[in-house]
Amino acid sequence: MAVVGYLVAALATCNRRGLSRHICNTVMASLLVPPTSVRGMTKLDRSKFTTIVELPVIRLGKANLARVMPALKKYMLKMQKFKPIQKYDDADDDGGKIAYLDPVKVQNFEDIDESDQKLLSDNDVTDFFKKRVSLNYDNWPYDQVLKAVFPEGAEVPNSYSKIGHLVHLNLRDSQLPQKHLIGQVLLDKISNTKTVVNKLNTIDTTYRHFAMEVLAGDKDTMVTVSEHGFQYKFDFATVYWNPRLATEHQALVSFIKPHDVLYDVFAGVGPFAIPAGCKGNRVMANDLNPESYRWLIENAKLNKTRGNVTAFNKDGREFLKVEVKNDILKRRDIGTEGSEHIAMNLPGMAVEFLDVFADWFNREEAEKVCRKPPIVHLYCFVKLGKDADPHALAKLLVEEKLGHTLTPESLLTIHHVRNVSPNKEMMRVSFMLISDILIGYKPVAKKLKIDNTDLFLDENVIGKDGKEQGTPQDQKCVQGSRSS
Ligand SMILES: C[S@@+](CC[C@H](N)C(=O)[O-])C[C@H]1O[C@@H](n2cnc3c(N)ncnc32)[C@H](O)[C@@H]1O
Repeated sequence: MAVVGYLVAALATCNRRGLSRHICNTVMASLLVPPTSVRGMTKLDRSKFTTIVELPVIRLGKANLARVMPALKKYMLKMQKFKPIQKYDDADDDGGKIAYLDPVKVQNFEDIDESDQKLLSDNDVTDFFKKRVSLNYDNWPYDQVLKAVFPEGAEVPNSYSKIGHLVHLNLRDSQLPQKHLIGQVLLDKISNTKTVVNKLNTIDTTYRHFAMEVLAGDKDTMVTVSEHGFQYKFDFATVYWNPRLATEHQALVSFIKPHDVLYDVFAGVGPFAIPAGCKGNRVMANDLNPESYRWLIENAKLNKTRGNVTAFNKDGREFLKVEVKNDILKRRDIGTEGSEHIAMNLPGMAVEFLDVFADWFNREEAEKVCRKPPIVHLYCFVKLGKDADPHALAKLLVEEKLGHTLTPESLLTIHHVRNVSPNKEMMRVSFMLISDILIGYKPVAKKLKIDNTDLFLDENVIGKDGKEQGTPQDQKCVQGSRSS
């Protein structure tokens, strides 16, 4: 209370001296934070967050709320689980109401804009005073609670991803001593959360899923997520899922027209395959991870793909060389309508599979296939140097691995999928397997340096700034520099 009293006095001085609004805001903002005594807490004690503050209040009496609200709305106090309009609880009150105002915005009636003051005065709403209020743990969002308990100046975990009922964190080493408290706070504060997990610093590089530790809540990593109206069920501890790919999943599926076929080489639990199957397209979807394969089959049933999706559990190279090849040849033999789309979403590695196309078909087969060239949608990461163009880098990378220049005849689109981290972009290069690629050989002019030791950032964790947060991983990434 002494601190609060001091701050109120400081603000009054601030107002009197006409000091800048910025300084006053800084002082007042600190009024509405949890008590400093919680700093350093490692075991969550919610009762320790209760504190008394003095808030500006305006008496509404019997005023017509609909009339005064336009003038009051922007000044009202917005805190979690706090009603800014309440009954005035003094004994002599006849049931009128009061509105709690934000002390950062208003300390006196004069702080309210003149036009709003007039509207309030016209409705007899001018009685402005301060009132003591008890705030508690429920009133602060998770980041303010964490900021209060963390050591002064320490980096607070301000990012997480939500996968069904599960909150997924990627904590830094310095945050680990308070990991269980962090888990509990997120469990309390993030709606529809039953489990909070932290990514451990290892990644299964083959199947692209994370080892994780349950910090709070049920030890249950089985989730059901909804994406563009489709349901996906899986165990997040054993398969890959990234909520930031939702837009891309829909974008790719929108290219697939009636009679087209989708060959999904790295299908995961089916976010390309299932929407395409539900549209009525035939889909052959493959994933090397037996768990992804299992959930792919389950999800095809769950979303009623009506037998359009066939699942495979093979290495992508084998899948392309045998299943995809045979299916394309069969389609040419019977003269089927539509195009073939080959989706290759394993951005750190997919380019390494492009050499398959060099001797995929013999000359006679290739000539048949190229009558309607199959379309490849290849995903990759590019790391940008100064002034580098991610589109140009993605094109160069594909050309180098493919052994062919992508010409206007073969190149369809180069699309920026998302920013992964500062200077690292995920790209999609869509191109057609024309006869030059399937039969001929054209050496590429430019070579890129591939740096295998680059940092790979966790693809699943979203920062408040929209960027991803992560830890170093051993994953290939393309540098934006060229060698001759
Ligand atoms: C980045 S995830 C993409 C999954 C899915 N397409 C999506 O958009 O969510 C890549 C997938 O490739 C699978 N994978 C990794 N290496 C593979 C390989 N050699 N052959 C086939 N699948 C592989 C992983 O198990 C993972 O499910």
